[in-house]
Amino acid sequence: MIAEVLADEVAASRVPRAGAPTVADILATLPWWWQRRAVAAGLRAGWTDWRRTLPPPPLELGGSCIPWLLDATPEQFGDAYVRALNPDVRAAEGRHYTPPTLAEELWRMVLSAASRRMPALLVDPAAGAGSLLLPALRQMVKSSPDAEATLERVGQQVAGVDLDSIAVWLGNAFLAAELLPLWSSLEPRRRRDLPQLLHVGDGLDRVHDRPEAIVMNPPYGRVRLSNGDRERWSRSLYGHSNRYAMFLHAAIERVAPGGVVAAVLPTSFLGGAYYQRLREMIAEDAPLVALTFIESRTGVYSGDPLQETCLAVFQKAGEDRVVSCRRLHANGAFEISDVGKVAISRPFAAPWPIPRRLEHSRLVVGASRLRHRLADYGWSVSTGPLVWNRHKPQIGAWGSGRVPILWAADIGPDGVHRDPARDHQRWIRLRQRDEFMRLTEPAVVMQRTTAPEQQRRLVGAVLDDHALNDWGGAVVVENHVNVLRQASCEGPLDARLLAALLATPTLDALYRCLTGSVAVSAYELEALPLPPPNVLKRWVTLDETILSAAVARYYSG
Ligand SMILES: C[S@@+](CC[C@H](N)C(=O)[O-])C[C@H]1O[C@@H](n2cnc3c(N)ncnc32)[C@H](O)[C@@H]1O
Repeated sequence: MIAEVLADEVAASRVPRAGAPTVADILATLPWWWQRRAVAAGLRAGWTDWRRTLPPPPLELGGSCIPWLLDATPEQFGDAYVRALNPDVRAAEGRHYTPPTLAEELWRMVLSAASRRMPALLVDPAAGAGSLLLPALRQMVKSSPDAEATLERVGQQVAGVDLDSIAVWLGNAFLAAELLPLWSSLEPRRRRDLPQLLHVGDGLDRVHDRPEAIVMNPPYGRVRLSNGDRERWSRSLYGHSNRYAMFLHAAIERVAPGGVVAAVLPTSFLGGAYYQRLREMIAEDAPLVALTFIESRTGVYSGDPLQETCLAVFQKAGEDRVVSCRRLHANGAFEISDVGKVAISRPFAAPWPIPRRLEHSRLVVGASRLRHRLADYGWSVSTGPLVWNRHKPQIGAWGSGRVPILWAADIGPDGVHRDPARDHQRWIRLRQRDEFMRLTEPAVVMQRTTAPEQQRRLVGAVLDDHALNDWGGAVVVENHVNVLRQASCEGPLDARLLAALLATPTLDALYRCLTGSVAVSAYELEALPLPPPNVLKRWVTLDETILSAAVARYYSG
């Protein structure tokens, strides 16, 4: 029989193919892959036939077998499938599968939150080809004391849905293949059909099955919702909706009391303005208990993810709002290191400062005691009003009555200057209706976007009366700049001290703990924890170096 199988494979591998594999090729390879796995598990004759276990595929098996996939792991096979998809479809449907390192780590986090007990029911509501269920299933197989009982139990204990019928078909093969060694160990007459653990379905549907654990890597991206859908998600919705937030909301509703939701997520839910109601829902219903930041350039993703990503575990009806934070990084091999524990305190809607590195731990704990914010000192933050491409015909060289434009590139650690690269777009002719854009009062200006590799996130400078005079008494601030203005000049936090504070490494590190994004938003600037007035008064007269040391001592004290 083995000779027969190998002969079939060789024949399959000879089918001429050109170019990158298509989805049809991937599907056509699966039967061969299955047969090889069945033979390796010790099965023979008709027992190696995929049709005994799997339903017909959702597409005809018209493609060509891909020889290099025959010995692939399920994860590699799944990855080949998503790579074969049209990139637009892949992006629109969020079809990026979790690499094994992250799936295994997420499963370890589930077990740790569940006191090492296998959940009575484990569900993935956006299962794809089952990557997140594989570590659990492998553990069940490895620790199985009784093959027949385990095979019976798996079908009731592990489940997943996905809208993608091809992923479901492949995933059912991958998951069932893990069960082949148990199946093979039974006498043929005791072998029942292997379970189909995945089904086609919408993971956002309301289900009342109360799983003890939900694992997911939900699709990301903004969606436009109908009024009915806005009502459905109203508890966690604020402004724009994002699919991952809806999946998290649904999972928190669905999971059993005491159960865990473990997810691969972008870190934007920790600090972003649009996630403030979601943060309240999490803190009230299913507090975040463990968080592992995935450092970019670890190589766990085939390309660096565009957003900072994390593995997050939430526990329903948990009393404790203390999060254990770690980071996964590459140091030859993958390493996970502790970065500290942090308590999430009220108001829950505000961004949650979370340490990204061990050296931030004391800083975050110190900052969590501070109740003052920019608004308490009369400061507000807005974005520069000039969206330049809407005013192209008005922008150019100097001319009578024109006002200079202040661009992000004009802001540096030594103050504001005129970046020569912007000379050709330096001036704007304001029409009557554009007059609101003219800034004639002192402010602190800050870059709104920074490059990932940039040393500092907070790059700002004072635009005081003197600087404004140099610019002719008025400027128009472009939209990539934040403008911080003070309603009255009273109080200890004047523009000079504010700019000096924001220039310290301590405030830059604190800002990074509020958001993993390279954007510097008004919302997160307004959330920066600041010392009380008596402390600021002591700092007003300090020079930069002494101030920087005093700030570092104070925040970490
Ligand atoms: C990022 S992938 C994760 C797949 C798999 N859980 C993993 O970790 O490899 C997200 C999956 O969500 C699926 N999906 C998108 N919207 C869905 C919905 N409303 N219900 C169920 N699945 C959905 C996509 O087809 C895709 O397979």
